[in-house]
Amino acid sequence: MIAFDKVSKQFKQRDGNVFKALDEISFTIKEGEFVSLLGPSGCGKSTVLNLIAGFDTGYSGSILVNGDTIKEPAPDRVVVFQEHGLFPWLTVLENVAFGLKQKGISKKERQELAMEQIRAVHLSKFADRYPNELSGGMKQRAAIARALIMDPQILLMDEPFAALDEQTRLVLHQELEDIWMRTGKTILFITHNIREAVMLSDRVLVMSTRPGTIKKEFAVQAARPRDSADPLLHHVETSIMECLADELEKVIKEEMDDDSYSLKKNTFSDRDFGGMGGGI
Ligand SMILES: Nc1ncnc2c1ncn2[C@@H]1O[C@H](COP(=O)(O)OP(=O)(O)O)[C@@H](O)[C@H]1O
Ligand SMILES: [Mg+2]
Repeated sequence: MIAFDKVSKQFKQRDGNVFKALDEISFTIKEGEFVSLLGPSGCGKSTVLNLIAGFDTGYSGSILVNGDTIKEPAPDRVVVFQEHGLFPWLTVLENVAFGLKQKGISKKERQELAMEQIRAVHLSKFADRYPNELSGGMKQRAAIARALIMDPQILLMDEPFAALDEQTRLVLHQELEDIWMRTGKTILFITHNIREAVMLSDRVLVMSTRPGTIKKEFAVQAARPRDSADPLLHHVETSIMECLADELEKVIKEEMDDDSYSLKKNTFSDRDFGGMGGGI
């Protein structure tokens, strides 16, 4: 279980001023749960993920994973980033097997375990390819296989599909849901795409911006595997959109030079969220 209790995080800026990125954030994620953290760019999503990953230990409040304070990165918490991070000089098989080297497992066994994960993401025909010979979706599937081979308890995903086209993203959603249902991993998925968050998650934590707080939590009680035509999903999407509208207006105003700028009515209440990938 992951438990945040009144976690605040400040960054020192170059001009010496202190910037409050997270303000007393509290939430819990149960073992085996699929939770998304959703919010506009700059609201502190990656900051939360980095704290859980153990990349950053400078915060106030308490963060516990299975009752223990996080001191450093560990293989029970593996991260998949937007940029796949595969080594370009290694094949898919070598990339996926790479993390097992430190575990002192023989080469033959490493390759067998890697092939198992590669098959699970349906890349077995491409195991001998180099990353630059793969499509964007294939690279992300290889990155997921490389994370899963460490058999982490928690999979941390920071906008893993944000750079993919819409069709590829839909395929990856199914693949990730399959993996999650099969493995029972705890997944924290970060996105600024409302549809993606709702489609995948048991719960969506919506963040507000500057400083980042958890604004509201939405349970998504739709049946699994998810069906994109399920009206319940659309209902939750609409509720989240309403919850986020004023946050988005705040962000956009900050990025405009005109203080009196205001959004046209209904800008964010359009029911077609299909294109929200780059939206918020
Ligand atoms: N290392 C850092 N130093 C200073 N400011 C940072 C640093 N990392 C993040 N920030 C600031 O903290 C805020 C939250 O960042 P981040 O968590 O990356 O947002 P998100 O992932 O939601 O887009 C942003 O305003 C960002 O500029
Ligand atoms: Mg981020």
